[in-house]
Amino acid sequence: MRESCQRFIDRHPFMPWPLRSRTHLLWKNSYGEVWVKREDELSFISSGPKRRKHASFFAMALEMKVPGLKIAGSLFSNNSVAMAASARELGIPFEMLSPKAKSPLKGNALLNAMMSQTAAVPSDTFVTVPEGANHPWSLAGALTLGLDLEDDYDQIVCDAGTGYTAAALSFTLERSSLITLKVAPADLHLLTKDISKQLNLPMPPPSREIPVSSGLSPIGKREWLFFKDIWQNHGLLLDPIYTARSFLWTKQNFDQGQLPGKTLLLHTGGGLSLLGFEEEFKKLIS
Ligand SMILES: Cc1ncc(COP(=O)(O)O)c(C=O)c1O
Repeated sequence: MRESCQRFIDRHPFMPWPLRSRTHLLWKNSYGEVWVKREDELSFISSGPKRRKHASFFAMALEMKVPGLKIAGSLFSNNSVAMAASARELGIPFEMLSPKAKSPLKGNALLNAMMSQTAAVPSDTFVTVPEGANHPWSLAGALTLGLDLEDDYDQIVCDAGTGYTAAALSFTLERSSLITLKVAPADLHLLTKDISKQLNLPMPPPSREIPVSSGLSPIGKREWLFFKDIWQNHGLLLDPIYTARSFLWTKQNFDQGQLPGKTLLLHTGGGLSLLGFEEEFKKLIS
């Protein structure tokens, strides 16, 4: 399947963006090791697997000379901010489909509001980009993640919002098993079926799906303390919505010997969402 995915990727245009991220050791104990893949370092605004999805999406959008984009997503979506920034950079008009913003604005909602105020354009012919950039043009980029890592882990832990990143990743793994930590109620089976059709490949083995949050649930005290610990002791900034939860789940299970051998934990970026949490940070040092 890896070779077929590589052939699919090779048939697509890509934006000339960096699509390789490094991996380093994070935790070690008598049960095994956890390595972290620094997808957060791919880019500042469009960090993590979004950068990969957007690399093929925007190359296709330019090639197809799309008149513009309608970008779907929540008010606080990391993906919407990143898409808007790339569309603006590339001169592609866009309209945000996010719900009306309520005051006082903060975090990504503030960035989205500042951006979309300047985008009043007619949009009848615009291409709609679903939440999470889950568009067929994003698939080639999404598949590059699995080919940018060694397929020799006992388990790979990936967080999921819509689940597109995890679904695409499952097609490129032959030896490693995939654990998907669901921050929102994603339908991985349906996404995997769509991707299998697009690639004309059989369905890969299903990943182990574990719900870690309902998406809207507030970030708890334990998660904040863990967030602070990872910043203080490892110099890693986590996104409180996604990666703080996936790292905490991984640490707890690793400490209890539930993740034996070699684990790869994906840091899926999302640093922009930190803009919305200044008050919580102040509490962490008071
Ligand atoms: C930091 C971070 N991690 C994970 C995801 C979820 O990715 P996916 O929708 O492909 O599951 C997002 C979505 O934007 C994100 O911002």
